[in-house]
Amino acid sequence: MGYDLVIVANRLPVDRVEQPDGTSTWRPSPGGLVSAIEPVMRADDGVWMGWPGGTEQDLEPFEADGLSLHPMSMTAEEIEGHYEGFSNATLWPLYHDLVAKPEFHREWWDTYVSVNQRFADEAAELANEDALVWVQDYQLQLVPQMLRELRPDLRIGFYLHIPFPPAELFQQLPWRRQLLEGLLGADLVGFQLPGGAGNFVRLVRQRVGHKTHRDLVYLPDGRTVRAAAFPISIDAAGFEELARSEEVTSRAKEIRAALGDPSKIFLGVDRLDYTKGIYARLRAYAELLEDGALDVEDAVFVQVAVPSREHVEEYQRLRDEIDRLVGRINGDLGRIGRPAISYLHSSYPREEMAALYRAADVMVVTPYRDGMNLVAKEYVACRYDDAGALVLSEFAGAADELRQAWLVNPYDINGMKAALLEAYRADGKDLTKRMKAMRKTVSHNDVRAWADHFMSELSHVRDKHGKAVRPASRS
Ligand code: F6P
Repeated sequence: MGYDLVIVANRLPVDRVEQPDGTSTWRPSPGGLVSAIEPVMRADDGVWMGWPGGTEQDLEPFEADGLSLHPMSMTAEEIEGHYEGFSNATLWPLYHDLVAKPEFHREWWDTYVSVNQRFADEAAELANEDALVWVQDYQLQLVPQMLRELRPDLRIGFYLHIPFPPAELFQQLPWRRQLLEGLLGADLVGFQLPGGAGNFVRLVRQRVGHKTHRDLVYLPDGRTVRAAAFPISIDAAGFEELARSEEVTSRAKEIRAALGDPSKIFLGVDRLDYTKGIYARLRAYAELLEDGALDVEDAVFVQVAVPSREHVEEYQRLRDEIDRLVGRINGDLGRIGRPAISYLHSSYPREEMAALYRAADVMVVTPYRDGMNLVAKEYVACRYDDAGALVLSEFAGAADELRQAWLVNPYDINGMKAALLEAYRADGKDLTKRMKAMRKTVSHNDVRAWADHFMSELSHVRDKHGKAVRPASRS
């Protein structure tokens, strides 16, 4: 039996949970993408293909909470070459403004190609005639073209969750042409921001030599590919409901009390990733304490750093650097029962995150480069009280929408210090005005609207005779 909708992603939308008796079950992972795509999957008889993590082989397809899931196993060599290597030590830094130096290794590329081919082969098997296939993210950029060769009848969409870099950076990649051609297998290529879509179209014109006009690429075989921006979002109503719950409300109070009831709580929540600007942000905060502008008796910075990609060298180095910095700041500036920084290297369930968002007076999101940054949107969704300040990097995709945040350049430490202080000192009226405006934006453009928009544009890309048609523009 095949499916009318196939989601192809590097990871499955469920996490494996080990039971005390040694058996294991699956739990839906808290990511927003699942909640966005889940209703479409149910309505359209869909399946989700992806890696469940780990090296277990020959996993059988299964259902979790009524969703059809198709696990793709990976060997230890594939994890090293495809996931940790080419995806996260080559593409990730290259696509994030070279915040770290990308490594180029031919063996990693070979593994990336073979894993992409395996995903494409499997998707070709799973898809019904004329089905819709939606490929997700930078780990699978070759899948659209590989799949089109196997199944020209399919409608293929691709969405890039991370930034797409300007030509000056992208062209360093030895396999730049192959990646561009891989993406051109899709009918619709979605990006977070119009800038990414523009970079892609320009590169296709320069490097592959196809004709382009605005957001369209004309292929020699008569096919048209559209590249456009679809800024991703969160389940805003779900977060608000959680934030309003009694459990979260009392947990937020508990958190404040456990921190010694400071007058203001600053909060950072990030995967422990060098793109997130954690080091510079903590330094800026520490300098405010040193300058006497803030006092550990009044304020505390809670930094949650979610462990991530722990086998990749740059991530191990970052962890050591942050550990050392936090130790030094607390050693120099903390007092008994009053650390300057409360540092948590762990991941937490959604409920705990909502309680932290409710407890925090100033949310600090300062990546050097970020596709969107959903933490910023989650904070806004949880502040139904119209209180709380958001300090946000200009280089996060979210800054395009959340214009009422205190926008900062994360490379400018003095500028960040000034913004942190302004947000700390802002009066209630100013905070309310800013938060109300940001909440309107987030609740209007939620993740359902994002998924519906992409899917409807994709289903209009070609008519049933395979002829390219321009999707109707949305008002
Ligand atoms: O932001 C890109 C992304 O791949 C997300 O899709 C994912 O949630 C996050 O990075 C972490 O990715 P992973 O743990 O799969 O490397």
